[in-house]
Amino acid sequence: MPKLETLGIKRLDSLHYYVHDIERVRSLFVDKMDFTEIGASGEAMNRRGKQRSVVFNAGEATFVFAEPMGVGGAAWRFLKKHPEGIGTLVFEVEDIHHAYKLLDERGATLMGEPESFENLGTNWTFSITTPFGDTTFRFVQRENPDGGFPDYVPHDEPRGGTNKFGFHEVDHITSNFLTMKPALLWMQHVMGFEEYWEVAFHTDDINQKNRVKHGSGLKSVVMWDPNSGIKFANNEPAPPNFRASQIHLFAEDHRGAGIQHTALTVPDIIGTVRQLRDAGVAFMPTPDTYYDMLPARLKTIGVNEIEEDIEVLRELEILVDGGANLEYMLQIFLQEQATQFKAAEAGPFFIEVIQRKGDRGFGAGNFRALFESIERQQVAAGRIS
Ligand SMILES: [Fe+2]
Repeated sequence: MPKLETLGIKRLDSLHYYVHDIERVRSLFVDKMDFTEIGASGEAMNRRGKQRSVVFNAGEATFVFAEPMGVGGAAWRFLKKHPEGIGTLVFEVEDIHHAYKLLDERGATLMGEPESFENLGTNWTFSITTPFGDTTFRFVQRENPDGGFPDYVPHDEPRGGTNKFGFHEVDHITSNFLTMKPALLWMQHVMGFEEYWEVAFHTDDINQKNRVKHGSGLKSVVMWDPNSGIKFANNEPAPPNFRASQIHLFAEDHRGAGIQHTALTVPDIIGTVRQLRDAGVAFMPTPDTYYDMLPARLKTIGVNEIEEDIEVLRELEILVDGGANLEYMLQIFLQEQATQFKAAEAGPFFIEVIQRKGDRGFGAGNFRALFESIERQQVAAGRIS
């Protein structure tokens, strides 16, 4: 396919997270992960949008949490169909009218024309629907980088945390589909994204010793926007045992396709995870056998040496993966929000923490480790056997 003209996306501006209770997610993002609360929706926005929003930031990562106020707002509509989750991704673009024109020509489903709003200058915004379930994409052009959203009110003094862990940016966004091809084609033909990386595996193939009876299969394709570098990992279930696949189980819990997790980069994952654990953050478990096999596995994938002590990684249950050229990455997955908050309606979305040490890819070992890890839990919960 010929390369499409770029939409001119500069960066992932923010993720809008629709929740029943802002205080509950604040307890994780601010009290434990040390995000800073930088602003909130104003009265006019609350009335018009029928929801209240609070903006939390760490480094380049910004989450807008929105809680319904009565019936009929965007958060209310999302939560009527799904548990809590990411309902909108916001992209800052260079030229909103040009992005709109390109999207219109390519058959995007436009939810309205670009509208201007005043906030530290004149800003513009419009939205489109997407194949990511009920998650919409919103585009914004800002005259001032701090222009925010319509009727958004920045706090005079930031509140809450100070980003002591140094969260830097959103590394990637991972979404699950029961069939991903329509979404991949849409990303390619409408958004102008390109394929970055692809893998298919079944956990039965790779962990004979500790495998669960059915295992879990998935296919995964990573797309990216070459202009901004934003990466989207996309998964669909694969046979055998299609319905036991983690992707299928996600779709049941989320009640459709949607965003499964967001990875945040940190400069010191060991220090970060140690403190997060001390603060009571729950992580997905990794078995001891993973670390017994780690030195051999690292050699196989071309990582002959890592700077970290494997015993420390074992203690904290941090995962390692990488590729050629002795480059690697360290990562860990928080428990899904439903488990984190012990509330089913908090949903299957979760946060990943990642430290990249040269490796810029998405090694299959990461995915396997994740899926094996979730699987073990679901076996323990009696959901699959
Ligand atoms: Fe990830």
